[in-house]
Amino acid sequence: MTDSAQTLPVPGAVGELYDQLTLNAMKDGTFNPNVHIGYWDTPDSEASIDEAMDRLTDVFIERMGVDDSSHVLDLGCGVGGPGLRVVAHTGARVTGISISAEQIKTANRLADQAGVADRAVFRHGDAMKLPFADGSFDAVMALESICHMPDRQQVLTEVCRVLVPGGRLVLTDVFERAPRKDVRHPGIDKFCRSLMATMADVDDYAALLHRSGLRLRGILDVTEQTTLRTGRELVKMAGAEDRPAALDESNFHFTDDAFHPSDLAGVDDFGCLLVTAERP
Ligand SMILES: C[S@@+](CC[C@H](N)C(=O)[O-])C[C@H]1O[C@@H](n2cnc3c(N)ncnc32)[C@H](O)[C@@H]1O
Repeated sequence: MTDSAQTLPVPGAVGELYDQLTLNAMKDGTFNPNVHIGYWDTPDSEASIDEAMDRLTDVFIERMGVDDSSHVLDLGCGVGGPGLRVVAHTGARVTGISISAEQIKTANRLADQAGVADRAVFRHGDAMKLPFADGSFDAVMALESICHMPDRQQVLTEVCRVLVPGGRLVLTDVFERAPRKDVRHPGIDKFCRSLMATMADVDDYAALLHRSGLRLRGILDVTEQTTLRTGRELVKMAGAEDRPAALDESNFHFTDDAFHPSDLAGVDDFGCLLVTAERP
């Protein structure tokens, strides 16, 4: 199924969703500077979910190949956890962009608190039309954000424009693993509906990058290391019956259809891709 056959996310609404999730997480004490899945290198890894979330950022760092002379764009930067880790571990300068104004307020506060506000700057804006000049960045990272954007080709074309020649893009995206079922698992539909996301067409990914001006360097199915294990860990932590408070606020309009990690627990056709590309 392509982007156009699915209900497309509306950036303003995605921003409101993440505003609400950020405020709720602060209120109920579940705030986490990482808003993404974990990465466990091996099935027997005993890393905690927090360690595994940081590990995913480290996997991005390894693939971006940046250092203290680099300027990195964090596309869909959340509340800044990954970007701040890139600054701390590589010395690179990071600019983050998110469609959620609340996330940006929080990310800039965290940068201030970490004493790196001169190296990490977070801006409110839409990745569909990046407010940056051509060739502004040595690398772009997009952890679990492109699935919320209504047109992957438009975003990737923008990414290509703002990268320097030879600059790397690293991203994660969600896709349906083969063999594809005639009827999708309802947990996947619920994920897409509640969290305003679409599933990528894995068969078209190389061509999608190519049409956007980018060259594919690697595409990996990291479902076992990421989504499957994250689902299992979250269910273990919360108990399958508990609904997460972040999605349960009575004033939150997704309450009736709230997504819970248990909706996708063990659903191994809900896949995760790790993609590396570069601007030729
Ligand atoms: C699952 S969160 C990931 C956050 C962050 N990358 C992390 O790993 O912690 C998805 C992020 O994508 C951002 N996003 C979604 N659509 C966007 C758009 N059109 N423009 C900019 N940011 C967007 C959201 O605001 C949110 O920050």
